[in-house]
Amino acid sequence: MIKKGIILAGGMGTRMSPLTKAVNKQLLPIYDKPLIFYPLSILMLAKIKDILIIVNKGQLDQYKKIIPNGKNLGINITYKEQPSPKGLPDAFILGEKFIGKSNVALILGDNFFYGQNLTEKLLNCTKLTSGAKVLLHKVTKPELYGVAKVDAKNKIKDIKEKPKKFLSDLAITGLYFFDNKVVKYAKNLKPSKRGEIEIVDLLNKYKKTNNLYADFIGRGGAWLDTGSIEDFYKTSAFVSAIENRQGLKIACLEEIAFLNKWVSKKEINNSVKFYGRCEYSNYLKRLL
Ligand code: G1P
Repeated sequence: MIKKGIILAGGMGTRMSPLTKAVNKQLLPIYDKPLIFYPLSILMLAKIKDILIIVNKGQLDQYKKIIPNGKNLGINITYKEQPSPKGLPDAFILGEKFIGKSNVALILGDNFFYGQNLTEKLLNCTKLTSGAKVLLHKVTKPELYGVAKVDAKNKIKDIKEKPKKFLSDLAITGLYFFDNKVVKYAKNLKPSKRGEIEIVDLLNKYKKTNNLYADFIGRGGAWLDTGSIEDFYKTSAFVSAIENRQGLKIACLEEIAFLNKWVSKKEINNSVKFYGRCEYSNYLKRLL
């Protein structure tokens, strides 16, 4: 079972400057809440309560202002600063103490997932006892992502980071499930040409020993980009359309905690006080 999760919320957000000069990208809005709420909600839907958020050096205060410690969400949030970006697998080196002897999930702080069967799928992924599991999704521009080629039995045959030559249209999304070997494997990775340790090299360590598994988000699910200003705009439009149509929020952390029975009305009221008078608080009040 996987009960621990890491959110990698560093990155310079260079492509989104000047928006990211003073504020980390993951704190910018996707419609009515900061981007970080969405990956955090995914871990919470997976019933993961012990969460490490890795942030850039010097940006801890920004995060703590909006998500102090998880108390009002009935979860345990700890932070770690990343001195400098060294590649995605660095999350497991920085998180070694947090991970301890457990298995662990990793979600990238800028990944947005939505879909009907998602929770069920997530809970299934957390059942992983050994090996590693990735979630794949069909995209029109695979060259922008890590990509996996699978055989007729959905077994991963090949994986490549941002392939220039077409390999497959299945992108490897930014949500991964690993057994405890991940720490050892991450420590043994050598930096690539661009000077960072690479997630694809880490996944290949599992593939070599026949321990890399795949699941699919499927066409009824959405995995959207937040890489550019245009992506922020489109993903915000998606959230706005769904929320305003149904009157239900996507990634309302307090609602998920409440439905998971991790908090009572008392904590929801605390959150209302914390956020102050706003639409989000009104939604929380309606929950009660
Ligand atoms: C990273 C990973 C890539 C993955 C993507 C998902 O790429 O390296 O394999 O498909 O996240 O968001 P980046 O967005 O950092 O370029």
